[in-house]
Amino acid sequence: MTVPVTIALPKGRLLSDSIALFQRIGIGHPGLTPHARQLSFSVAGAAAQLVIVRDVDVSTYVEYGAADLGIVGKDRLLEQRPAVYEPIDLRFGACRIVLAEPSGASRSASRRWTTRRVATKYPNVTERFFLRKGIPVEIIKLSGTIELAPLVGLADQVVDVVQTGATLRAHQLVEVEELARSTARLIVNRASLKTKYRRVHQMIQQLMDEIGE
Ligand code: PRP
Repeated sequence: MTVPVTIALPKGRLLSDSIALFQRIGIGHPGLTPHARQLSFSVAGAAAQLVIVRDVDVSTYVEYGAADLGIVGKDRLLEQRPAVYEPIDLRFGACRIVLAEPSGASRSASRRWTTRRVATKYPNVTERFFLRKGIPVEIIKLSGTIELAPLVGLADQVVDVVQTGATLRAHQLVEVEELARSTARLIVNRASLKTKYRRVHQMIQQLMDEIGE
C-alpha cells in the first residue's frame, strides 16, 4: 500500500508554478487552480492530499507535521527559520528582499538624529541586517502593503520583497541595498523523512528529475 502524504502549497505568487510542478510528477487534481475556493484536494491514485495555505503558514504546517512536504519562498524561510529539511531549490519564484526608501529622501532635520524606522513583514531578517551593520533601528512589523508606510509617515524606509520592481516604482521608492535573494524551496517535515522514507525520497527524486537537478 502507498503511504499517504500531505503536501502544503502556498497561496499567492508561487501557487501556479507549484501546482504545475506537482502535476508533472502525477500529483494533480482537476479542481485545483490558482483561484480555487476549495483548500484541500485528495489525489486518490497517488495517495496524496494537497492543501492550499497562506505562504506565511506553509513552514508551520510542515514543521508540526500537519503536512509532510511544502513549497515556500526562501524569503519566508530566512525570516521564520523553521526546523525542517530544505532539500531542493525549485528555482522558480525568484525575488529579492531589499531595503528601499522614498526617492530623493533626505531625513528631515527633526528626524535626522532619531533612530530610523523601518517597516517590514520580515522583522528578523531586518534586525539581523541592521545588527550586522551596527545601525540602530526601530522595526515596525506590518503584514502587507508595506510600500504605503513611508508615504503616510509611518516609517523612513521599508524592507520588502521585490520581483519586477513595479510596486516600488508605483510608490516612488528606490532600492538602497539588497538583503537576500529568494526562490521557491521544497521543505520536508523531519519525522516524515524517516517514517515515510521511501515515499518522501521517491518524491524528492521525482521533483529533482523534473527540474533537472
Ligand atoms: C510583494 C511585495 C510587494 C510586491 C512586489 O507582495 O510586498 O508588494 O510583491 O512585487 P513587484 O516587485 O513585482 O511589484 P506580495 O504580492 O507577495 O503580497 P503580500 O504583500 O500580501 O505578501
